[in-house]
Amino acid sequence: MKKILVTGGLGFIGSHTVVELIAAGYEPILIDDLSNSSIKILDQLEKIIGKKPVFHQLDLCDEAAVKSLAALVPDVDGIIHFAALKAVGESVAVPLKYYRNNFYSLINLLNSYYGKKINFVFSSSCTVYGQPDNLPVTENEPVKPAQSPYGNTKQVAEEILKDMVASGTNYKVCSLRYFNPVGAHESALIGELPIGVPQNLVPFITQTAIGKREKLTVHGDTYNTPDGSAVRDYIHVVDLAKAHVKALQLMEDESFTGYDVFNLGTGKGSSVLEVINAFESATGEKLNYVIGPKRDGDVEQVWGDVKKSSEKLGWKTELDLDTMMSSAWAWEKYINQNPL
Ligand code: WQD
Repeated sequence: MKKILVTGGLGFIGSHTVVELIAAGYEPILIDDLSNSSIKILDQLEKIIGKKPVFHQLDLCDEAAVKSLAALVPDVDGIIHFAALKAVGESVAVPLKYYRNNFYSLINLLNSYYGKKINFVFSSSCTVYGQPDNLPVTENEPVKPAQSPYGNTKQVAEEILKDMVASGTNYKVCSLRYFNPVGAHESALIGELPIGVPQNLVPFITQTAIGKREKLTVHGDTYNTPDGSAVRDYIHVVDLAKAHVKALQLMEDESFTGYDVFNLGTGKGSSVLEVINAFESATGEKLNYVIGPKRDGDVEQVWGDVKKSSEKLGWKTELDLDTMMSSAWAWEKYINQNPL
């Protein structure tokens, strides 16, 4: 059974990917420093997959610790690197924390397994595009100057990976540019666990609907979009997780060499107001929201061209916006009754 190291394996996308890796016959080995996740997710995963995955608590910024991990688990076939700090606003406030964490962890990981034949999947983001000039945005769209240190860490990490591959290495690399991951596993046993006040739209919607937040503020309705609110490409986290399995399988094919990059979205844009309407119709809940000012750093509209992912990964999304909303709501109700 091929062993896959999953850094950030107890996180939102990491935990959903662990479920899909096991379903595809891989053996995931989870790494997490628990700085932005709960150890209880390990028990939740056991409920879904019937056994507790192997887990090592580890700070990937600790070079010696990562080297000892590589000695402990030398026979790894692939690495999926989710672990990173990812709050856009926080990255503006404390950039050095983001540059240190996101670069030290990546470089320690790459160094510790250097020389081994490894299929490496990197968790990147559509943030690298900024506000694209062309929509839907393709992987060939020029990367724009990042609008936040967080976005910059994703751009530079992609360059580090490309330069490493170009220098000649046994690593094969796929960078996956996520659009907006939302929703939860159909079991409602795992999902997004924001710490503190959610920055992202969908957890704020569900926390408002369950009564944890008084109201949602829509950040702007004067954009040059059909209903004035900003447009994003929301993708169900389970569809996103499945794409990681496809990326590993692509690199296992001898014909794949070097480095490639893929957009992971639905290829469709939805506005904030459309997401709210989808939530209300999917759940029957009435959402208390007001219109507020635009949020600094937000782009007006972005959605992905996913032709390359469909053709080269043999992947496309199957779950629609209603399912994203109903699964997010089921998860919110679950954690409201079963705090993790
Ligand atoms: C979506 C839309 C907000 C909250 C960020 C990162 C991206 C990725 C996903 C890590 C925007 C609006 C939000 C609210 C609102 N993270 N909104 N009221 O900013 O597109 O992407 O998170 O990889 O890298 O940049 O996602 O969910 O924060 O916002 O109106 O209370 O919802 O203004 O238009 P975003 P988001």
